[in-house]
Amino acid sequence: MTILITGANRGIGLALAQEQIARGETVIGTYRTSHPQIAGIEWQRLSITEPASHHALSHTLSGRVIDTVVCNAGVYLDAGSTLNGGLTADIWADTFATNVTGVFLTVEAVMANLRQSDTPKIALISSQMASHERAPGRSYAYRASKAAVLNLGRNMATDLRAQGIAVGIFDPGWVVTDMGGQNAEITVTDSARGLSDRLNSLSIDTTGTFLQWNGQPQAY
Ligand SMILES: NC(=O)c1ccc[n+]([C@@H]2O[C@H](COP(=O)([O-])OP(=O)(O)OC[C@H]3O[C@@H](n4cnc5c(N)ncnc54)[C@H](OP(=O)(O)O)[C@@H]3O)[C@@H](O)[C@H]2O)c1
Repeated sequence: MTILITGANRGIGLALAQEQIARGETVIGTYRTSHPQIAGIEWQRLSITEPASHHALSHTLSGRVIDTVVCNAGVYLDAGSTLNGGLTADIWADTFATNVTGVFLTVEAVMANLRQSDTPKIALISSQMASHERAPGRSYAYRASKAAVLNLGRNMATDLRAQGIAVGIFDPGWVVTDMGGQNAEITVTDSARGLSDRLNSLSIDTTGTFLQWNGQPQAY
């Protein structure tokens, strides 16, 4: 099986790429500016916010079967932001360009490749911070962008069900990465193992579900 993972050059994306290689999968990892040399990862450049970059990737991958795409690349530009200023229109725009528009463009870019698979799957990496039920305040742009990703995934699941393409929305946990910080709860290795199990379990019967990395349902 071939899996394409965006933002695979570091953090959760890199750990997931390594876990998928260990499980015998063929891994295409995307990067923006640079990537580590890891045996088994085929690197392709993708700048998530640039439509031309999506078009170039689509062209490069033309004719190849991709079984699973994981939209992982993301930014958290407004950690702890409040209503008291500092959360600029530019931060809102950059957050949504990466975390929402970028996800949609990525899925569109590889749709023809997914359609060539017998078991096509789309995995969108959202967050527990997408939840409406659990709303502790602050970090407005990030929370709204991850809620939008959840919404994208739910609606893609509806549209793609008849084509046999399964869509899962996943919370990777609070993970020790540049984004998650050193005080986070789980390692990238544990998150990647859990996410890999979730990818295995994802099917047309479970399409549209929002799950934590460990398989527990995530609050909507
Ligand atoms: N860490 C957590 O606790 C946590 C919790 C919930 C959800 N998540 C989600 O999990 C995903 C991965 O998070 P992480 O913790 O691994 O973050 P990270 O360590 O900050 O890595 C982010 C990745 O996204 C890529 N990226 C960002 N903007 C991009 C752009 N415009 N074009 C191409 N690539 C871009 C980065 O590439 P560069 O190296 O080029 O910047 C990097 O590969 C994100 O969607 C995040 O929101 C993380």
